[in-house]
Amino acid sequence: MKGEPMKAVVYAEFGGPDVLRVTEVPKPSPKPNEVLVRVHATSVTYGDLLARNFKAESGREFNMPLPLLFLSRLYFGFVKPRVNILGSEFSGEIEAIGKQVTRFKAGDPVYGYLGQRMGAYAEYVCMPEDGTLAMKPASLTHEEAATVPYGGLMATSLLRRARVQPGQKVLVNGASGSIGAAAVQLAKIYGATVSGVCGAPRLDYVRALGADHVIDYAKQDFTESGESYDLIFDVLGKSGFARCRNSLAPAGLYLPASFKTKALLQMLRTNVTGGQRVLCALASEEPETLVFLRELIEAGKYQSIVDRCYPMEQAAEAHRYVESGAKTGCVAISVSPSATRQQWSTSLNLSDTSAHGTRAESAPAPSAY
Ligand SMILES: NC(=O)c1ccc[n+]([C@@H]2O[C@H](COP(=O)([O-])OP(=O)(O)OC[C@H]3O[C@@H](n4cnc5c(N)ncnc54)[C@H](OP(=O)(O)O)[C@@H]3O)[C@@H](O)[C@H]2O)c1
Repeated sequence: MKGEPMKAVVYAEFGGPDVLRVTEVPKPSPKPNEVLVRVHATSVTYGDLLARNFKAESGREFNMPLPLLFLSRLYFGFVKPRVNILGSEFSGEIEAIGKQVTRFKAGDPVYGYLGQRMGAYAEYVCMPEDGTLAMKPASLTHEEAATVPYGGLMATSLLRRARVQPGQKVLVNGASGSIGAAAVQLAKIYGATVSGVCGAPRLDYVRALGADHVIDYAKQDFTESGESYDLIFDVLGKSGFARCRNSLAPAGLYLPASFKTKALLQMLRTNVTGGQRVLCALASEEPETLVFLRELIEAGKYQSIVDRCYPMEQAAEAHRYVESGAKTGCVAISVSPSATRQQWSTSLNLSDTSAHGTRAESAPAPSAY
């Protein structure tokens, strides 16, 4: 198997979407504990955009503690990319297994998360059988399933730490993004009353995900509304604990998914003082969470809405569309030529909040196919 070529979207220098080129690279071969997955679909996430142009990321823009920026540069490269194939999440089919693999067999439809290792913008990936991999939700297309792992894993892991209780009031700041959309749905499943903060074009989308209240961040500063919440989940960490204090219940929790050193110090301090607390954490990526998400999807309780799907050859166009800020929902990339060529429209029927996303029937967007 090794040595055979496969197609992949490769980038050899940091920069804008045009650095992404489809080319042939050697097909990987599974080690004894690994599975070889034929990737049918992947997606464009925040991490893909960041890694593609990592050289341009300044310490000020990087929304994690500065030592992590140095470690990330070591990993992604200082001058040239060290990781040449993007794509952290995927859906596909097991093509072959290593000798020691017992959890999966050839032909299994799976979905998974490669994290910062990336590599899903390719026809094949190898990963250990105990990696973040699970059987794919049967009711989803590969394009839909490929957009579930990143947001779902991050939101599930972080919200579990917050121990959301039925009846609590939760505010998700950044509710229309990958992590926020997942958090809105999960907080509703946990029985909370949910407010979602996002941009005006996506208010209906966040409402359709289940948010009880929606707030346009350009029109209203939620920290000045007089409302108070048991949990403020701040995806981009833009609001900060000090500003959020007036909007937190006396024992409320401020949980930034993105945090600087200042928030870490606030976490240490508030752990001692009690009352309103800050919690900073890195999300975990357990395969069991993919099973949990699959069960929610198949029970009709959770959805991942695909806005547009691009063929692999138009990965640069997919990145451009996400960077334009126009997307409502997720953007998928079809990798396998055998994958169903479906088309989603940007004008979502948001009144249809069925379990599996609101798929448009027709109207191909010229930029997509
Ligand atoms: N803790 C961890 O382990 C962990 C793991 C992964 C990622 N992260 C962090 O998560 C973040 C990325 O999240 P994501 O993938 O969900 O991003 P995303 O898909 O790009 O979504 C960003 C969200 O932020 C909203 N937003 C933009 N400007 C805003 C503003 N001024 N006020 C309020 N909301 C605003 C966007 O709203 P509109 O689009 O509607 O304008 C959108 O809902 C990164 O900062 C990353 O560091 C943390």
